[in-house]
Formats: sequence, structure tokens, C-alpha cells
Amino acid sequence: MKILAIVGSLRKASYNRMALNTAMEVAPEGLEISVAEIGDLPPYNQDVQDAGDPPSVVRLKEEIRSADGILFLTPEYNYSMPGVLKNAIDWASRPPKENAFNDKPCGIISASTGLLGGARVQYHLRQTCVFVNMHPMNKPEVMISKATEKFDAKGKLTDEATRKILSTFMQSLKEWVERIKR
Ligand SMILES: Cc1cc2nc3c(=O)[nH]c(=O)nc-3n(C[C@H](O)[C@H](O)[C@H](O)COP(=O)(O)O)c2cc1C
Repeated sequence: MKILAIVGSLRKASYNRMALNTAMEVAPEGLEISVAEIGDLPPYNQDVQDAGDPPSVVRLKEEIRSADGILFLTPEYNYSMPGVLKNAIDWASRPPKENAFNDKPCGIISASTGLLGGARVQYHLRQTCVFVNMHPMNKPEVMISKATEKFDAKGKLTDEATRKILSTFMQSLKEWVERIKR
């Protein structure tokens, strides 16, 4: 089963990227997880898209189409999605007949330095999933709060409870993707 991870933070020491590394470690057998590059996408412009998707967009759409499911890991920026993540979703979802996300199952993880772990971005992302017709898994919800206290300087997740919920999440995601595919 192929899972494409899309990370909403571009920074090297991203907690969301660290969470992805842990999710990969604890994922069940049979999941092949690759990571989409979204940092080189231009800002969305319909005039550009009407003239033909730029190569970075063609690549992203192909990666999404060939995946059985999508795994989003994102910070919350100003109570919503980071622009880079929204930009990637905008490109890959247009034009409507070429919406690469159509009918894809997905899972959402957020990590934040704040107390709520990105709860608000998760619901904004779910709202976007409605329009692009993705099927987000409802539970378990993984919102990693106070990320500075949960990862060490090398990016290793040191919080056992978070590791456990990530493991449950990845097993559930596998079952969710199988269910939607059926
Ligand atoms: C532009 C910006 C807006 C932010 N807004 C929020 C916010 O609304 N809620 C929150 O919990 N954290 C917010 N933060 C803090 C992030 O949780 C923190 O920077 C986190 O480390 C980002 O994720 P990353 O480590 O994967 O890059 C914001 C950070 C930035 C740079």
C-alpha cells in the first residue's frame, strides 16, 4: 500500500517532519511511505495552470494519483493551514476534472509548540477535504501539543504516549485506506 506524506512545514527542524519520521518507524508492515516535495511549487495562479501545469505540479499530481492514501502532517499557522500546504492542495485539485485528490482516503496529524497541538488546522483541513472529495479518517485524532517537550535535540520522539498513539494511528490508517478502496 502506497502512502504519500505531505508535510505542511518546510523547515529543516520541523516537528511535523519529526513526527513523520516516527510515524514511518512505527508504521505496520506493508505500508510504503514516500514524501511529497511541495517547497518548489510556484504560488497558485490559474493563468499559469490554464497554460499547462508547471513540472513541479505535474510531479505532485502523479505522486498523489499513484498513492493509495495521503498522510498530512502539518503545523497550524494563525489558526489555519500554512500557505505552502494550501497552495499544494490548490494546485493538485485543479482543474476540477483533474483533481488528483478525488476519492482518496487520508489521515491528518498535526504538531504544534502550542497547547492545542494544531486542533484548529485539523478542522480547516477537513473542511477542504470536503470540497476536494477526500475521505479523512476520523479517529484516532493525533494532535501533538507542546512539541518542544516531546522531541529531543536529534529529532527523536521521546514521549511514549505520543509514540503509542502514532502507532495506533498508522495501523488505523492502513485499515481505513483498505476500507475506502473496497
Ligand atoms: C506563521 C506562524 C503562525 C503560527 N500560528 C500558530 C497557531 O495558530 N497555533 C499554534 O499552535 N502554533 C502556531 N505557530 C507555532 C507553531 O506551532 C510552531 O512554529 C511549530 O514548530 C511549527 O511546526 P514545525 O515545527 O513543523 O515547523 C505558528 C508559527 C508560525 C511560524
